[in-house]
Amino acid sequence: MNLDIDAKAFWKLSYGLYILSAKDEGRYNGQILNVAMQVTATPMRLAVCVNKENLTYEYIKKNKIFGLSILEQDTPMKFIGTWGFKSGRNMDKIQSVNFKLGKTGVPLILDYSLAVMESKVIGEIDVGTHVLHIGEVVSSRVLKEGTALTYEYYQQVKKGKAPPTAPTYKAEA
Ligand SMILES: Cc1cc2nc3c(=O)[nH]c(=O)nc-3n(C[C@H](O)[C@H](O)[C@H](O)COP(=O)(O)O)c2cc1C
Repeated sequence: MNLDIDAKAFWKLSYGLYILSAKDEGRYNGQILNVAMQVTATPMRLAVCVNKENLTYEYIKKNKIFGLSILEQDTPMKFIGTWGFKSGRNMDKIQSVNFKLGKTGVPLILDYSLAVMESKVIGEIDVGTHVLHIGEVVSSRVLKEGTALTYEYYQQVKKGKAPPTAPTYKAEA
């Protein structure tokens, strides 16, 4: 076995797809995220990996709160396109969706979401192009039952792509 780095080995890792949301003063924004996971149960803590170029990153860095919506399998590609390929710097993404403000004031996106949660940032690890934010969950709710959208389903069945700002970006061969 040749032990150099084979990028294809990373394609075997599993992820979900989420909307990561944030606020700054009266402005709300959010983005598609696949690198999110629960890291502890007592207390409930999450980790999310966010690109330093994203507007959502700026809002989280400044205000230390974020929301997470777990997307369902039937989430339309147009919705993912808006939240994952467009920046809140050029458009108001939030005006086209239903959302509810959480305890922290962060917007929780309700459309195509199976569950929502909000966290206060308790730690940040600079990993280069991205920052891994550790959040302590202050509220979480199941909105409906259903199948969650996985990154594998998004790629294999929906034939979806990701931009270079995604931590798991694959350049076209
Ligand atoms: C399938 C998919 C997965 C993505 N995963 C991440 C991710 O885990 N972390 C990240 O920072 N950006 C990720 N992105 C990219 C952001 O959603 C994208 O850069 C977005 O336009 C940023 O918006 P903003 O500038 O309004 O914050 C992903 C995009 C797609 C389509």
